[in-house]
Amino acid sequence: MFDHHLDFRSDTAAWPSAAMRAAMAEAPVGDDVFGEDPTVNRLQERIAEKLGKEAAVYVPSGSMANAIAARLHCDRDGEILMEAGSHVFHYEQASYAQLSGLAVRAVEGREGVLERARLEGLVRPDNTHFSRTQLLWLENTHNRAGGKVLPYDTLVDLCDWARERGLAIHMDGARLFNAVVATGVEAPKWTRHVDTVTVCFSKGLGAPIGSALVGTREAMAEARRHRKLLGGAMRQAGVIAAAALYALENNVERLAEDHANARRLADAIRSMPRLRLTAEAFDTNLVFFDVDPAWGTAAELSAALAERGPRMSPVGPRTLRAALHLDIRADDVGRAITILREVLDQGRPCR
Ligand SMILES: Cc1ncc(COP(=O)(O)O)c(C=O)c1O
Repeated sequence: MFDHHLDFRSDTAAWPSAAMRAAMAEAPVGDDVFGEDPTVNRLQERIAEKLGKEAAVYVPSGSMANAIAARLHCDRDGEILMEAGSHVFHYEQASYAQLSGLAVRAVEGREGVLERARLEGLVRPDNTHFSRTQLLWLENTHNRAGGKVLPYDTLVDLCDWARERGLAIHMDGARLFNAVVATGVEAPKWTRHVDTVTVCFSKGLGAPIGSALVGTREAMAEARRHRKLLGGAMRQAGVIAAAALYALENNVERLAEDHANARRLADAIRSMPRLRLTAEAFDTNLVFFDVDPAWGTAAELSAALAERGPRMSPVGPRTLRAALHLDIRADDVGRAITILREVLDQGRPCR
């Protein structure tokens, strides 16, 4: 049984609303390869302005924005420092290596948060034996760490550290607006410490497709070249950019509802003896939890739930992830909690 309103597998599972589709249908278009699509241009201006940067480039996906950022900041003998649980490290086929020949030094953080002390000494000296350490990569919010917000003071500290050592800084802010809404710290305050930012319209903001890379005018002119190389230059892309514009105008503040729904789901899970949250609290719209192996595996719980409606992703042998988004309303969360309890009470699945 597939119930779209119980699809917790990802916040990309939200469908474009009727109003969003109407905006897409009415969008003026042109050829964006020539920079002539008025809707794409408006979106790029709008997102750059919202993030307090000079310019933006519209791309099909967060993965492409990240791939472009890596090659933008690094030479072909470059190395990137990042937290070991970063999305780009785990889930984007090491695109920095495949597409740009770059190396990564993955540094274990505390609940996804890098610490200055662990970075000390990692910038390699200028020596023919070594790759060149050129980029610090941050992720905010941090997906695998449970949608954790990178604490603002830590961000400033890490960026100061990187600047003192001449590194460029990229922020994978696929869910930056979740951090903005969760903390009340405005987007430009986060972004002024970094050179480039990836931001996704297709996650909690509810657009069907699209992300942006944001930075200086000069860097974004270069990013357009990389986008073309990677096959991401699109033509009458205003049709989809209109959905992103609609999302930016209408779906940012409402992320607070997803956060409230995530807290409610987490509170219910905390009270279920067969389940254990992987963190004490979840800051934003993602909830991770472990299932008691005496009951079964994460895959088994995921399958048993899906039979009754709720879909949640197994992300490890014992661990599941539930993502909240704008098509999951408070009463859907209530339904999912009831089904989760019933499925666990039914006991271990047959194998
Ligand atoms: C933190 C983060 N960065 C980047 C991406 C990649 O985005 P996309 O799926 O649009 O390629 C994701 C996707 O979930 C993500 O969670």
